[in-house]
Amino acid sequence: MRVLYAAALFEGVLLGIAETSQGRSIARATGDLASFIDTETPIALQGVLNNIGPNGTGASGASAGIVVASPSKSNPDYFYTWTRDSALTFQTLIEEFIAGDTSLETHIEQYITAQATIQKVSNPSGDLSDGSGLGEPKFYVNMTAFEDAWGRPQRDGPALRAIALITYGNYLISNGATSKVSSIIWPIVENDLSYVAQYWNQTGYDLWEEVQGSSFFTIAAQHRALVEGDAFATSLGKSCTGCESQAPQILCFLQSFWNGTAVIANLGNNGRSGLDANSLLGSVHTFDPAASCDDVTFQPCSSRALSNHKLVVDSFRSVYTINSGLGAGSAAAVGRYPEDSYQGGNPWYLCTLAAAEVLYDALYQWDKQGSLAVDQTSLPFFQDLVSNVTTGNYSSSSTTYTSLTSAVKTYADGFVSIVQQYTPSNGSLAEQFSRDDGTPLSAGDLTWSYAAFLSAIDRRNGTVPASWGESSGNTVPTTCSGSSATGTYVTPTATAWNRRRQAVY
Ligand SMILES: *[C@@H]1O[C@H](CO)[C@@H](O)[C@H](O)[C@H]1NC(C)=O
Ligand SMILES: *[C@@H]1O[C@H](CO)[C@@H](O)[C@H](O)[C@H]1NC(C)=O
Ligand SMILES: *[C@@H]1O[C@H](CO)[C@@H](O)[C@H](O)[C@H]1NC(C)=O
Ligand SMILES: *[C@@H]1O[C@H](CO)[C@@H](O)[C@H](O)[C@H]1NC(C)=O
Ligand SMILES: *[C@@H]1O[C@H](CO)[C@@H](O)[C@H](O)[C@H]1NC(C)=O
Ligand SMILES: *[C@@H]1O[C@H](CO)[C@@H](O)[C@H](O)[C@H]1NC(C)=O
Ligand SMILES: *[C@@H]1O[C@H](CO)[C@@H](O)[C@H](O)[C@H]1NC(C)=O
Ligand SMILES: *[C@@H]1O[C@H](CO)[C@@H](O)[C@H](O)[C@H]1NC(C)=O
Repeated sequence: MRVLYAAALFEGVLLGIAETSQGRSIARATGDLASFIDTETPIALQGVLNNIGPNGTGASGASAGIVVASPSKSNPDYFYTWTRDSALTFQTLIEEFIAGDTSLETHIEQYITAQATIQKVSNPSGDLSDGSGLGEPKFYVNMTAFEDAWGRPQRDGPALRAIALITYGNYLISNGATSKVSSIIWPIVENDLSYVAQYWNQTGYDLWEEVQGSSFFTIAAQHRALVEGDAFATSLGKSCTGCESQAPQILCFLQSFWNGTAVIANLGNNGRSGLDANSLLGSVHTFDPAASCDDVTFQPCSSRALSNHKLVVDSFRSVYTINSGLGAGSAAAVGRYPEDSYQGGNPWYLCTLAAAEVLYDALYQWDKQGSLAVDQTSLPFFQDLVSNVTTGNYSSSSTTYTSLTSAVKTYADGFVSIVQQYTPSNGSLAEQFSRDDGTPLSAGDLTWSYAAFLSAIDRRNGTVPASWGESSGNTVPTTCSGSSATGTYVTPTATAWNRRRQAVY
C-alpha cells in the first residue's frame, strides 16, 4: 500500500524528465528537495525490503533474514550476502524499528537467526573454533560458503554485526526482554567481540575489497564495537575482558591514520592519495550523538572530520565531468576514491549521501552543545562556506553560529540534491552514476544505496541513534602497542523468538 501511494505521488513530484539518446529517462532536479525526500523515503525502504529473503522480490532463493547486496546477477554479480552490507542495512532497519516502524521486527529477528547460522559455516577464512571464519566477507544467499578466490578476510564485518545486534539488544533490554537477549543475541555478539579483540591488529581487506592492509573504516568500527560491547556485556551481567584490554589500543592505532589535514584511508604503500569515502563512512558509523567534537574518534563535528571532508570532496571535483563548475563549497558528486576505476570509477550514491550525513551529524552535535568552534584545522572547511570566517568559539546565540550552521545545512542538502538530480524517475538507486552524464550504472537496486539514503534522511530529521559511549572510550594511551586478546567462541543456539515481552509497544 505504501509503495502504490509512493508511486502515485512520484508522478506529481518529479518533473522535467528527459529522454537520453538510449531512451532511458533521467530525472532532472526540478522538484524541491523536501518533495524528493518525501517521495524517495518509502521507495528506499521498500528497496531495502525487496532485497531481503525469504520474500523480497529481488531476493528469490535467499534464506529468511538474508540481505542480498543487489538483485544483479551479472556485470556485476552481487547476488550474495555480505556481512558488512547486511549489518549496515540492519543497523538502519533497527533504528527505523526503534523509531516506531514495528513491522520491521520479524525481519530483524530473522536476520539475527540467520547470522547465528552463518557464524557456524566453515569457509575459506577459517571456522568458528578460533573465530577466524567470522572474517569471511560474503556467502551464498542460501548461507553456504563461497569458496572461490576473494579479498579475504574483511575484519569490519564482525564489528558492524555486533554494533547492529547490540542496538536491537539494548532496545529489548529496555523493554524487559533481557533473558531473550542473553540467550539469543549475546552468544552471537560475544563471538564477534572476541573476533575483534583477537584479530584487530592483523591486516585484512578494506571495505571496498581491494586493498590488503589496515583500513580506517575497519579500525574505527572495531573500536566502537568493543567500547559498546563492554557496556552491553555489563548490562547483561557478563564481561568482555578483551573489550577492555583492546579498545584503548585500537583507538591508539586509529590515530595513525591522521596526517594533519586528512585521513589516509589505507595504511601501507598502495599508490593512492589516501583520500577515500572510507573515512566519511567511518565518521558516519561511529557518530555518537552524545559525544563532543572529539578529534580522537573523528566525530562528525570534529575539526579532523571537517578538514578531511573538504579534502575528500575536493578530490572528486576535477575527476568527474558532472562536477565541472562546482567549486569548493558547492556540493558535488562523491565516489569511493579519486583513483577508482572499478565499473568505470564513477560517483556512488552511498558515498555522496555519506558526505551529507557527516554534516547532518555535525549539525546535531553543535546544536546539542550550543556552540561551534572553528580552529586552524577546520578553518579551510568553513572558509569555503563563509569566506570571512575566523577561528573562534561561537555560541549558538551568535550571528556567526547562525551563519555557519545555516551554510553547513545548505551544503549538506546540496549532496542530497546531487543524488536527486541523478536518481531515475522511478526512484531506483543503483550503485553508481556516470561521471560523464549521471546515468545510473553498475549494480541496480543496491541495498546499501537505499539504506544510506534512509540513514542520511533520518539524521537530517534529527533522528539519531542512542549513544555508544564515546565519552567513556576516548582516552588514547600514551604509547601504542600491537596486541591481541585470545577470544572465546561459543556455538550460537538461537532459538525461537517468542514475541511475548513484558512491555508493550
Ligand atoms: C513470507 O511469506 C510467507 C508466505 O506468504 C509468510 O508466511 C511470511 O510471514 C513472510 N515472511 C515475512 C518476513 O514477511
Ligand atoms: C547454495 O547455493 C549455491 C549457489 O547458488 C549452490 O551452488 C549450492 O548448491 C546451494 N547449496 C544448497 C545446500 O542448497
Ligand atoms: C594529507 O594527505 C592528503 C592526501 O594525500 C594530502 O592532500 C595532504 O596534503 C596531506 N596533509 C599533510 C599535512 O601532509
Ligand atoms: C562576513 O561577511 C558578512 C556578509 O558580508 C557579514 O555580515 C559578517 O559580519 C562578516 N563576518 C565577519 C566575522 O567579518
Ligand atoms: C566553546 O564554548 C563553550 C561555552 O563556553 C564551551 O562549553 C566549549 O567547551 C568551548 N569549546 C571549545 C572548543 O573551546
Ligand atoms: C527504474 O529505472 C531504472 C533506470 O531507468 C531501470 O534500470 C530500472 O529497471 C527501473 N526499475 C523498475 C522497477 O522499473
Ligand atoms: C523524516 O521525517 C519525516 C517527517 O517527520 C518523515 O516523513 C520521514 O519518514 C523521515 N525520514 C525517515 C527516513 O525516517
Ligand atoms: C598493530 O598495532 C601497532 C601499534 O599500534 C601498529 O604499529 C601496527 O601497525 C599494527 N599492525 C596492524 C596490522 O594492525
